Amino acid sequence: MPRQRQLGLIDRCIAATDDMLKTFAGGRPKGQRPSPADQHCVEDSLNQTEKRHIAGLMRVNHSGEVCAQALYRGQSMTAKSDRVQQAMRQAAAEEEDHLDWCEQRLQDLGASTSYLNPLWYGMSFSMGALAGAIGDRLSLGFVAATEDQVCRHLQAHYHQVPENDRKTRAILEQMIADEGAHADRALHEGGLKFPGIVKQGMTLVSKLMTETSYRL
Ligand SMILES: [Fe+2]
Ligand SMILES: [Fe+2]
Repeated sequence: MPRQRQLGLIDRCIAATDDMLKTFAGGRPKGQRPSPADQHCVEDSLNQTEKRHIAGLMRVNHSGEVCAQALYRGQSMTAKSDRVQQAMRQAAAEEEDHLDWCEQRLQDLGASTSYLNPLWYGMSFSMGALAGAIGDRLSLGFVAATEDQVCRHLQAHYHQVPENDRKTRAILEQMIADEGAHADRALHEGGLKFPGIVKQGMTLVSKLMTETSYRL
C-alpha cells in the first residue's frame, strides 16, 4: 500500500474513533438548527401512559440517529473517493441535529436514551465500513435505501403520537422531510437502487433495533 494512502487510512481511523468517543462521552459539537419542538412553548397535556409510549418511540428514533451517525462514519472511513468520503462526513454532521432533537425530547419527557446504543453503534459502523469498502455507488445506494426505510418508520411513529403533543410531532415532521431529502441526494449522487428483497432483509435487521430500544 503506498505510504500516502496508508497515512490517509490511519487519519480516517483516528477521526472515526474521535467521533465515536464524542458521541458517547460528550464533547460533540451541537447541531446547527434549533429543535422544531421549541416553536411550541406550552408543554402539552399528556397523561402518563401517553408519555411512556412517546418516550419509547423517541428512544427508538434516537437509536436510529445513533445508527445513522455510525453508518455514515463507517462509510466515510472506507469510502473510495474523497468526494464520497467528504459527503459522508458532511451527512453525519447534518444528522447531529436529529440526534440532539430526539435526546432533548427524551429529557423533556423524563426518559433516558437506550442502553443498547453502543451495541447499535458498533453494528452500524461495521455495516457502513463494509458498504464503503465494496464501492461508492453501493455505499450511496445503501444510504438511499436506509433513509427510505427511516422515513417510513418515522411516518408510522408520527401517526401514533397524539395530536396534542405538538412538540414531538414538529420534530418528526422535520425529520421525515430531511430523511427524504437525504435519500434523494444519495440517489442523485450515483447511488444504486436496491432491489426489494434486499430492503426486506434490512427491515428485519431494523426491527431488532426498534423492538428492543423501545423498552431498553
Ligand atoms: Fe436523521
Ligand atoms: Fe438522514
